[in-house]
Amino acid sequence: DVERQIDALLAEMTLEEKIGQLTQYSSFWDATGPAPQGGEQEEKFDQVRDGRVGSMLNVVGRDEVRAVQELAVEDSRLGIPLIFGYDVVHGHKTIFPIPLAEAASWDLDLIEQSARIAAIEAAAQGLNWTFAPMVDISRDPRWGRVMEGAGEDPYLGSRVAVARVNGFQGDDLSADDTIAATIKHLAGYGFSEGGRDYNTVDVGSVTLHNIILPPFKAAIDEANVRTAMNSFNTLNGVPATGDSYLQRDLLKGAWGFDGFIVSDWGSGREMIDHGFAASERDAAELAIEAGSDMDMESYVYRDHLADLVESGDVDIALVDDAVRRVLRVKHELGLFADPYRYVDDPAQEDILMAPAHRAIALEVAKDSIVLLKNEDSLLPLKQGEKIALIGALAADKDTPLGNWRAAGESDTAVSVVEGFEAAGVDFTYREGAAVQVGEAGFPQPVVVNTSDRSGFDAAVAAARKADKVVLVLGEDGLQSGEGRSRSDIGLPGVQQELLEAVHAANPATVLVVMSGRPLILDWADANIPAIVQAWHLGHESGHAIASVVTGAHNPGGKLPMSFPRSVGQIPVYYNYLNTGRPGPLENEVFWSHYNDLPNTPLYPFGHGLSYTGFAYSELEIVQNAGAVTVSVMVENTGEMAGEEVVQLYLRDPVASVARPVRELKGFEKVMLVPGEITQVTFELSGAELGFYDQHGNFTVEYGAFEVYVGGSSMADLGASFTRTGD
Ligand code: IFM
Repeated sequence: DVERQIDALLAEMTLEEKIGQLTQYSSFWDATGPAPQGGEQEEKFDQVRDGRVGSMLNVVGRDEVRAVQELAVEDSRLGIPLIFGYDVVHGHKTIFPIPLAEAASWDLDLIEQSARIAAIEAAAQGLNWTFAPMVDISRDPRWGRVMEGAGEDPYLGSRVAVARVNGFQGDDLSADDTIAATIKHLAGYGFSEGGRDYNTVDVGSVTLHNIILPPFKAAIDEANVRTAMNSFNTLNGVPATGDSYLQRDLLKGAWGFDGFIVSDWGSGREMIDHGFAASERDAAELAIEAGSDMDMESYVYRDHLADLVESGDVDIALVDDAVRRVLRVKHELGLFADPYRYVDDPAQEDILMAPAHRAIALEVAKDSIVLLKNEDSLLPLKQGEKIALIGALAADKDTPLGNWRAAGESDTAVSVVEGFEAAGVDFTYREGAAVQVGEAGFPQPVVVNTSDRSGFDAAVAAARKADKVVLVLGEDGLQSGEGRSRSDIGLPGVQQELLEAVHAANPATVLVVMSGRPLILDWADANIPAIVQAWHLGHESGHAIASVVTGAHNPGGKLPMSFPRSVGQIPVYYNYLNTGRPGPLENEVFWSHYNDLPNTPLYPFGHGLSYTGFAYSELEIVQNAGAVTVSVMVENTGEMAGEEVVQLYLRDPVASVARPVRELKGFEKVMLVPGEITQVTFELSGAELGFYDQHGNFTVEYGAFEVYVGGSSMADLGASFTRTGD
């Protein structure tokens, strides 16, 4: 069996070869061309031939992967195959909506299909491992990487994590179209102070166990995720790469994870800058002891692990265990059986960007759109209306691809202009002028030119002549993502001024927001009648947006993250603690609030409108032998068929640890035609009713519970029950 084969191989391996399995390099050279003479690149090739490398990242393409795999398999002494990793985050060639947008669909089947297609395409290009899904929960939209996760909630985040891992890994990891997934970043990366990337993370045990860790645990328990990545940050003073509580005690210990942990890029060495390791040698020792198995591009294992073992500072058993884990995943992927299984068949690449993949990408994109506001039914646009299509991003074919677009090719998304054309929308203000305004707001990639208003006059003139305006504004595709934290998350550049100028010219304005995070839309909410949150929706963006604004598709997306009223409110999230002074107290000062803003976000978690209406009634709770069944009737009260995400929230009002005012504990997406009424049922067990206490122990307590069901985290239809010992 596999473990015995690994035993046999371990017995044959030299210490250097073992350390090789724990070393991952990135490729920055063309592996199919002649090996460069001299320098670091040739050295990397030589090390692969020597069996001193276990994995490569950023080698993509059948020929490229084969060329490097041949060095390992044909030239190295033991012929151990490499595992090839890449950041396949939201599609590989066919680009899907960014993960935050996909989470807004609350459609787990579609999310799983999206990851499945990404895996099929990535595998067709020789890859067998993705560094996704990112399962970091975050309450801070200043953090650029919120685009890559599922938002602020651990329950939704866990369901999405499981769906994504299942999609990537499929039913059979050894199939040639499935790839190993990575849950990252262990842990707390989404809680970096001030939303500044790579910054300090300091959270208590209750937040760690109840908010941050659940998606990691769910992906292990329910989807058998095969790898994990630790994070750049310190968590409560300890760099995650050197954190043995997270990696050894929890992941590999209590949770029984038997895959391997890869470090983040250079995070081993960064422990020196953190002030945790005295030297690279020290960093290597701390990392291997803490359970970080594979070193991504920081070379501390390559350069120091042999000496650490030979001097007796590191027990060889730790190295053997790490190597065993890596070899196990390679076995499971079928790489020992056939190292070329991912690169054998030239026809594999025919699947890239297949029409069926584009069709699913369109479905996901449509379902990811959130209608934030729609006063007086300004949307959908009506037949015959003359539309002025304006805005920085209206003609942009690159921005919708978003960040972490993997192998997606620049400038290949369907723009809103193209989507409108295909949908037959009569828009008078076309590409040329839209681009002009766009360039004013969007130099690449982060710096924004705020001074150029050259397109304003044309935009205002077009707005005046139109029945309605569709204004497409927001962040360009690279303004969110890693290293893209922003302290001001309003519309970048001169776009707020453009919005105000256009609105003054024609108040019948629809704002379409593209962004990789919640933006501050307070002015827009107060003044613009219709607002559509269109994220970065991938290749099919323009078609999806056209389909929503014309009413061909009735929007049903719901926010996976609260939209703050202002940066000063951050963090603002729905599952907060009540405090000892919750208020509100009229004409009083001494309660927990801001003097200049409400406590509520602008748009809460779970919010999203439809062109139809939904009514909730008959909330009933039945308790039977410890199980709690909650049922509710949901009716489509409007005139259009539509989907509603029915959300169940729970509150434990008195507990041994103060519990949030409400927490999502179930959801179901239903499609209803006008007048249709259906019953939705949820089961609540200990898993939903319990929580982790301040020592990290899971507990389910007796007493009263409140239940709220509705179409957002503000749901007001409530009932209660008491959990007794009987
Ligand atoms: O997977 C990523 C990680 O999320 C951030 N640092 C680099 C890795 C590999 O590209």
